[in-house]
Amino acid sequence: MDRIAIEGGARLEGSIPISGAKNSALKLMAAALLTDQPLRLTNMPRLADTRFLGRLLQRLGTEVVEQDGADGAETVLHAPEIVSAFASYDLVRQMRASFNVLGPLLARTGHAKISLPGGCTIGARPVDLHLKALEALGARIDLHEGYVYAQAPRGLKGAVIDFPIVSVGATEHAMLAAVLAQGETVIKNAAREPEIGDLADCLNAMGAKVSGAGTDTIRITGVSRLNGATWSVIPDRIETGTFAVAAAMAGGEVRLTKTRTDFVQALLDKLVEAGAEVTPTDDGMIVKRSVKRLKAVDVTTEVYPGFATDLQAQFMALMTTAEGESVIRETIFENRFMHAPELMRLGADITVHGGEARVKGVPTLRGAQVMATDLRASVSLVIAGLVAEGETVVNRVYHLDRGFERLEEKLGACGAQIRRIKGAPEEE
Ligand code: EPZ
Repeated sequence: MDRIAIEGGARLEGSIPISGAKNSALKLMAAALLTDQPLRLTNMPRLADTRFLGRLLQRLGTEVVEQDGADGAETVLHAPEIVSAFASYDLVRQMRASFNVLGPLLARTGHAKISLPGGCTIGARPVDLHLKALEALGARIDLHEGYVYAQAPRGLKGAVIDFPIVSVGATEHAMLAAVLAQGETVIKNAAREPEIGDLADCLNAMGAKVSGAGTDTIRITGVSRLNGATWSVIPDRIETGTFAVAAAMAGGEVRLTKTRTDFVQALLDKLVEAGAEVTPTDDGMIVKRSVKRLKAVDVTTEVYPGFATDLQAQFMALMTTAEGESVIRETIFENRFMHAPELMRLGADITVHGGEARVKGVPTLRGAQVMATDLRASVSLVIAGLVAEGETVVNRVYHLDRGFERLEEKLGACGAQIRRIKGAPEEE
């Protein structure tokens, strides 16, 4: 298994182009199941997760072609006919986003059999809200031996779906099913993440009638069929935020291009409060740290537009060397501090109680072998490695490859001393 080795101490100077958003691309790819015409997605990130979903979509009858276009990587997905409406345990277990094919399959074919995803390292992550939304749309849902059997032989019907809590995935799933339902659907207490807006806009380009995305009430008037379209994936706000934090951590000056400041405003406000400088540009921002040490600031994760849970680990890494004590509260997932003990291996001073972590800034971190059990936790260790004295080796790099495109290349181009060690045995 690959590892990443970082020699700490180099400041970052340069420019990093931000890729298309993983968490948008995955839902847009699922939307290809809703039409018999090709959906061409541009600004596609090339990641383990998008490749994995591509393989699942192929099994369901989708032709998936990856190509280089004028604006970088593209994927053309074409599902003239659904040949299978089945996703096995192995497929859904390896990547939860596979579960999102359920709604489109149901809307297009009237039936589907999909494995329940089960929990994962960051929390239990149930899918009850996804299933309730589909039931509200008239689907019959039965659970047997870990599988969801869904049926809607006479098609889905528009309904009011009122979510008790805000869920990104359930909101997207409801949208993916309701666009082909008969009549009007109203999704209340909808998630407002930028990926929801991207999905709505892409569905509308395919001929759907979705309004209100980006607010807490989404209205959808069902249509009988959707067309193909060409759609450009929005910039990845988590990759943007990760590199902004990396620049603030390592010091120096980094220009982030092909992205947007409004997607990460809550993070940028915290970076500025801590003492970093952020200057918006035409296509992104410049993040600079000229002070020797940042100040500790507190953060609480929230649904968008609040501070993203997917940036919490990176921010914790940043706070490990800030001056003072920072309180980091995680409110979205119940078990999302696994990076804390790994950061402590590098010399960080962190105490975790339930959903709250207290980080006392230390003057220096020291390189060590570390590993993490999820994507964002892994990248927080890379960020810490940028300043740790000596060498930090991050194991289980496959987590990083799921969601960060050419991470070591992008950081290396800005002067980070970072390299991939191919196929070395994993430290357990
Ligand atoms: C999406 O997960 C993202 N994943 C996550 O990114 C991200 O952390 C999360 O949204 C929050 O922003 C993808 O888009 C593929 P939720 P999702 O449903 O949709 C509970 C990454 O690193 N809940 O908004 O699964 C749930 O347990 C990943 O890229 C239910 O109780 O998140 C959680 O506590 C990690 N029942 C809360 O809602 C349900 O049916 C919010 O989860 C669904 C969710």
